Amino acid sequence: METIRRTKVVDLLQRRDFGAMVNVKGWVRTRRGSKQVSFIALNDGSTINNVQIVVDLAHFDEELLKQVTTGACLSVNGELAASIGSGQACEIQAREIEVLGACDNTYPLQKKGHTMEFLREIAHLRPRTNTFGAVFRIRHNMAIAIHRFFHEHGFFYFHTPIITASDCEGAGQMFQVTTMNLYDLKKDENGSIIYDSDFFGKQASLTVSGQLEGELAATALGAIYTFGPTFRAENSNTPRHLAEFWMVEPEVAFADLQELMDLEEEFIKYCVQWALDHCKDDLEFLNKMVDKGLIERLQKVVATDFVRLPYTEGIKILEEAVAQGHKFEFPVYWGCDLASEHERYLVEHHFQKPVIMTDYPKEIKAFYMKQNADGKTVQGTDVLFPQIGEIIGGSVREESYDKLMARITELNIPMKDMWWYLDTRKYGTCPHAGFGLGFERLLLFVTGMANIRDVIPFPRTPRNADF
Ligand code: 4AD
Ligand code: MG
Repeated sequence: METIRRTKVVDLLQRRDFGAMVNVKGWVRTRRGSKQVSFIALNDGSTINNVQIVVDLAHFDEELLKQVTTGACLSVNGELAASIGSGQACEIQAREIEVLGACDNTYPLQKKGHTMEFLREIAHLRPRTNTFGAVFRIRHNMAIAIHRFFHEHGFFYFHTPIITASDCEGAGQMFQVTTMNLYDLKKDENGSIIYDSDFFGKQASLTVSGQLEGELAATALGAIYTFGPTFRAENSNTPRHLAEFWMVEPEVAFADLQELMDLEEEFIKYCVQWALDHCKDDLEFLNKMVDKGLIERLQKVVATDFVRLPYTEGIKILEEAVAQGHKFEFPVYWGCDLASEHERYLVEHHFQKPVIMTDYPKEIKAFYMKQNADGKTVQGTDVLFPQIGEIIGGSVREESYDKLMARITELNIPMKDMWWYLDTRKYGTCPHAGFGLGFERLLLFVTGMANIRDVIPFPRTPRNADF
């Protein structure tokens, strides 16, 4: 076969120099036609769109053509031609075809219309479907948007450790990391495991959040963000929870509650606008095939002001709803941790726009949140989104050493491994604030997909770590 430099399909579809000889490489999505001519839809992943290859069967070897089946990988040389029938402006009149990889009829993606559940079982192949191709191209674009947003706003990308000895959220949902022989653990007289001989000489785990280290960085570099994998051993089998997910955590020195909320809102809007600007073809596909209201919802979020609602006000609204006969599964009272039905009532029913809820009872929030003067609430913020529920959790941090220490003691948090965190409050403490955005929750919103397992390539959930 003649050597011609490969053109990606995304670039090829823009070209109008009809008559030029081109080469494309990709996977056969479909093949149809007659006894004389075949039409191959070839996709190389660079775009959701296929390029149509027109094959005059008389000019090709029969044995070769037998191998041009759904899923096969081809290299095609041919003439770029104007197209009338393919739905694209151009197509390729094939001159030479090489089968790089044949694909027999055991290939599971023969037919269209597989369920999401089935596709999850073949997560190694599902990126080759239109839907997952679109989702993963959008995922990439959202990562780029995140880095651009923070870079443009003067934040430094700071890498926090994946292995840690501290439980940031204090929720005890950590995966332990050890090199000890689990069949032969050394224990003391109380039956507690002795970690002296373990790799780190103490108990270590996968991080649930980079926040504590992020705070160290913010109190030195001013404004930072982390963006990396986080791990939670919570046994939540829901469409919103993963055991391994990616989190974006900015942390800003000198920011107060108002500035924190402004940052949260501006950041999400920037990311959504980025998708609208850079993922048009993929969004249009998802809008057509997955979620008819998707693009309109994205446009609406960019254009609306988020509601800012103190927790106490939110409880009043929910209590009124109950008084008027609305039925919730879980009880509503001041001090309760809002269930997702409560959050959804506020966001989807009452306000019909995103809500930033603030000033939660301290009992239901983490130890590091700044305590309000009322002695009851803390300056935590959750950003609640339609369909998703909580997309961001953040807070102003308690900067007073004494108040923080008092809270730590109150909650019996083991601080022996956290002296370094307290040092930020001891040496030149400063007001600061930050938040964590669940990357896959953002992707749920931006793609319209219904299950968080379908916006990450290889989901990890209870009893599932395949691929
Ligand atoms: O609300 P969370 O637990 O907050 C923190 O971890 C803080 N340390 C963040 C900070 O202030 N720097 O988690 C933050 C976000 C949630 O709002 C949610 O979007 C996402 O992380 N999240 C999950 N996403 C998928 N699966 C899970 N199991 C998640 N748990 C939290
Ligand atoms: Mg939270």
